[in-house]
Amino acid sequence: MRIERLIAHHVGPFDDLDIAFPECPDPDKAELHIFVGPNGSGKSTILYALAEFFGHSLLADRMRDRDARIVLEYDGHRATLTRLPASVPVHEQLQKDGYNPSRAGERMLLYQNRDHPDHMSLDGPHTTINELRVAADDRSRGPQRPLEFAAFAYSGGRSLSSPPDIIIQEPTGNPLHEAVSFTRTVDSQKLVQWIANTRTKEALAMAKGDSALAEQRGRVIAAVERTISQLVDRTIRFVLCDEPLEVRISQDSVELSLDVLPDGLKSITSWLADLLMRLDRLPWKGQGDILQRSFVCFLDEIDVHMHPAWQRKVLPVVQRLFPNAQIFLSTHSPLVAASVSDAWIHPLTLNDGKASPGKSVPACAGDSYPAILDTLFGVDEWDIETEKLFKRFHELKRLRLAGDNSVHSKLDQLADMLRKRSLEARDIIEHEMRQLMHRLEKAS
Ligand SMILES: Nc1ncnc2c1ncn2[C@@H]1O[C@H](COP(=O)(O)OP(=O)(O)OP(=O)(O)O)[C@@H](O)[C@H]1O
Ligand SMILES: [Mg+2]
Repeated sequence: MRIERLIAHHVGPFDDLDIAFPECPDPDKAELHIFVGPNGSGKSTILYALAEFFGHSLLADRMRDRDARIVLEYDGHRATLTRLPASVPVHEQLQKDGYNPSRAGERMLLYQNRDHPDHMSLDGPHTTINELRVAADDRSRGPQRPLEFAAFAYSGGRSLSSPPDIIIQEPTGNPLHEAVSFTRTVDSQKLVQWIANTRTKEALAMAKGDSALAEQRGRVIAAVERTISQLVDRTIRFVLCDEPLEVRISQDSVELSLDVLPDGLKSITSWLADLLMRLDRLPWKGQGDILQRSFVCFLDEIDVHMHPAWQRKVLPVVQRLFPNAQIFLSTHSPLVAASVSDAWIHPLTLNDGKASPGKSVPACAGDSYPAILDTLFGVDEWDIETEKLFKRFHELKRLRLAGDNSVHSKLDQLADMLRKRSLEARDIIEHEMRQLMHRLEKAS
């Protein structure tokens, strides 16, 4: 399933929104859509609207009135969601409107294709959406048949903490429950339970002398550890300690309780581990490598607690980790927006309290941050002197790339001056210089 377009009417800051999502040209990378724009320009609203089709997200309060409606186009089909006032009995309203519900939620109502009312049965083109919405409502019972697609949503909170007790048992509960609820998606208790359970099974396999089985048991957690290690540039391991029985994270061999992890590490670990746990626990058609699965993921400002170095790495790492995913995310960080190619940036603007989308543009990892700040974020950040230095730096960089070796030492001097001006300037210059080296190496 691929999401192609979102239409919204009277939702959040949008009177009318119509936004298309072009495909990713590289089959080895996840399809990424990045929303940028000022506070209140509707980034979260778009993510909540998309997520609402797969379970209850945070959209209901943003549906402004009885006319509010969102439409999702995917694989050539259309599904429509509207909101009913609490006072109107769902079935009465549906009959009045001439609709049959496949699923009537408490407050949000999924109407099937308005133009093709015969597409209303559960076996029609909306099967996946219906199935996920129905399953997400059930706290204890997961999907009844193997899935081919799922949806998850996270916000950049620091949800992870040590639960009071650890009980070693098979994980219970529905792996789709609250999977698109953003702020409630990560349940520390469940996550820690899953890690403790996995580590115990690995230890039991090792005690039997079966190291292949132990490795097989721990492979999903190993994927989480590998990814986070790559991102934070340190060796990260989940450790099950005894006395007291507790899951800790070891960072370059120093063991830390989950409660005292730094915020950046806490937030990335929370959503990444939760996502892989849910994928691991869901019945899936053909099983196979969970990293290859097809799913959609909504990430609302997951970079809020991240150091600039991590902000630059998070999307490239995630994009390669899940080659068959479609990922939608919001950010205020030019470092995140300029970190990938083969992605789409959707800028949003805000005028007199009304938001509207600008022209979607392909992301370009080579773009300079001042340019991105200026064109996409509408910020002209630098003081005049710094701006002049950056301008000169870019001129010299262009000459250097064109083969003029005489500018080499002048370029280094300018880079040094810029590094000293501010933390932001230093980050940008480090990135620019690395990129320059990379391009020169490639050219030689
Ligand atoms: N029920 C509503 N009725 C009218 N306007 C609403 C309603 N709900 C939300 N809004 C508008 O939507 C705006 C919030 O949009 P949203 O949270 O999507 O912005 P954002 O781009 O994510 O902002 P931030 O960067 O601060 O997270 C509010 O400022 C408000 O103007
Ligand atoms: Mg927001």
